[in-house]
Amino acid sequence: MARAKILYQCQSCGYASPKWLGKCPDCGEWNSFAEEESVSKLVPQNRADPVALPDIAPSTGTRHSTEIKELDRALGGGVVLGSVVLIGGDPGIGKSTLILQALKGLTKMGKVLYVSGEESPEQVKMRADRLGIMSDKIILLPETSLEGIISVAHEINPQVIVVDSIQTIFSLELSSAPGSVSQIRECATKLMFMAKKHGKPLFLIGHVTKDGAIAGPKVLEHIVDTVLYFEGDKGSSFRILRAVKNRFGAANEIGVFEMTEAGLKEVDNPSKLFLSEMPVNVPGSIVTVSIEGTRPLLVEIQALVTTSSFGVPRRTALGVDYNRLNLLIAVLDKRIGMHLGGMDVFVNVVGGLRIDEPAIDMGVIASIASSLKNRAVETGTFTFGEVGLSGEIRGINQAEARLKEAAKLGFKKGIVPASNANRKDNEGIEVIGIKNVEEALEILFF
Ligand code: TYD
Ligand code: MG
Repeated sequence: MARAKILYQCQSCGYASPKWLGKCPDCGEWNSFAEEESVSKLVPQNRADPVALPDIAPSTGTRHSTEIKELDRALGGGVVLGSVVLIGGDPGIGKSTLILQALKGLTKMGKVLYVSGEESPEQVKMRADRLGIMSDKIILLPETSLEGIISVAHEINPQVIVVDSIQTIFSLELSSAPGSVSQIRECATKLMFMAKKHGKPLFLIGHVTKDGAIAGPKVLEHIVDTVLYFEGDKGSSFRILRAVKNRFGAANEIGVFEMTEAGLKEVDNPSKLFLSEMPVNVPGSIVTVSIEGTRPLLVEIQALVTTSSFGVPRRTALGVDYNRLNLLIAVLDKRIGMHLGGMDVFVNVVGGLRIDEPAIDMGVIASIASSLKNRAVETGTFTFGEVGLSGEIRGINQAEARLKEAAKLGFKKGIVPASNANRKDNEGIEVIGIKNVEEALEILFF
């Protein structure tokens, strides 16, 4: 009989090696290797028949609404039958609450199996009571063994399966601990096969490690069809559900929620919300327009520039990329002669939003300049545009959608890239085209 092969696997990315390693050559994580049994027990499936592309029947009506508009939006328009959705996020951010609220809509499809590996049935019931969700179609299963879950699923034949959380589930066929790479991969794969075979949607809840990756393997992200991240400041009640991967819709689409006494509430007009507490006539604050997925969002960027009391000045970037902030500070220094060498610079995107788009460069630059000069930007003004290393402003995509959103919220004046400024219809906004940072700051502050 062949001996069971011992493999060492990185618990962060799944990299396997026959020897123990101190540092993972793949993801660079230190001390992440653990002993795992190697398995290759995938049962060969019946072979599939090849089909010519035009002969494939179009699938119709395969999307189902969760009756939570913002969740449907992040999913790309509803849940697709046979799709596997991973919802990740920090503990306590509201993953279980969201999925429980979504079940209310999903019970329209039929029975839902809610596998709870973390909370007791009483705890789930208490929460459901509080959220006003009571349905005999929601079947709770306090089970953590994969084999148990699959056997119950075959017995009651649910239309939707929810596993909260995938890290607690383990397969009896593997000796490694629940939460280890091989367990998570094995369980997720088996559950996925089941979901795909029967054409039922499967939701997996996953925890996130302190550096923001879904705990355990990145491999999980490859297995599933859709990855939704639940983000937000613990201190604030806003929550953003972001689609980082979606085989059935636009990636980076976001849904915005507010955590209230009665669970998560959808936010219909996030721009309005993000600007609701915007100070008037205060230096260091400016509005910019970002596109998240297909939706334009107005956000306030705040900067605070103060004299540094240490040898090395501090740069703090909240919601914007740290390296991008340093780059923009260097542009201000070299091209405009705004010396920030002895200054601490703090930049924050209000509302706990994270924006990775270069279109907000102008917002960051303008807020820093505004704080340094101690001059407020005229109320009703916004700016967007990518800033290049020589201080030039580059045009950006979807300028029209951005202008429309700004007009909807009553903004009057836009400082935008010159190449985006020459359209016929400007939605009633005074649009000023700029070619470089110097021009922009001239218009904003003089
Ligand atoms: P939960 O869904 O348990 O988080 P996760 O599953 O991501 O770990 O969310 C728990 C938090 O949400 C907890 O801090 C309490 C808060 N909460 C509310 O504020 N209102 C509510 O109606 C509910 C159910 C939870
Ligand atoms: Mg939970």
